[in-house]
Amino acid sequence: MTALFAAEVFQLPELTPEARASVAELYDQECYACHRWKRNFAGPDMQGNVERYLDNPKGLFDYLKDPQPIHPDKYRPMEIKKLSDKDASLMVAWLISLAKDSSATDRPK
Ligand code: HEC
Repeated sequence: MTALFAAEVFQLPELTPEARASVAELYDQECYACHRWKRNFAGPDMQGNVERYLDNPKGLFDYLKDPQPIHPDKYRPMEIKKLSDKDASLMVAWLISLAKDSSATDRPK
């Protein structure tokens, strides 16, 4: 029997300073209205959201591309503008970098 190497590796894009700046602006426009980093707001706190996906960036990517109900008891399902694959993967890379580095200067409030 032949071994199959079918597992697709989800690669996070490189976060250049330009990419960080543009994804931070996207967050400002599309996410900040409902999320604060450390406390629940219209949506759950972003730090907690991202920490659940530290070992599963593809899961976060999939959620952002197609949000499914997570806490139907507390929140309505998230409705956001459709993100391109590029924007969604940059958002994942950036959010994970922020969750891992509490001294990041571009972390939103
Ligand atoms: C209109 C308000 C709103 C906007 C805008 C919004 N969110 Fe959310 N978000 C929510 C709500 C509400 C939930 C909880 C949904 C649920 O429990 O089903 C949520 C949940 C999440 C989660 C948690 C997923 C999980 O599995 O726990 C993540 C991550 C997230 N949002 C990221 C983002 C990002 C990134 C953006 C910007 C692209 C964004 N949100 C924009 C309201 C919003």
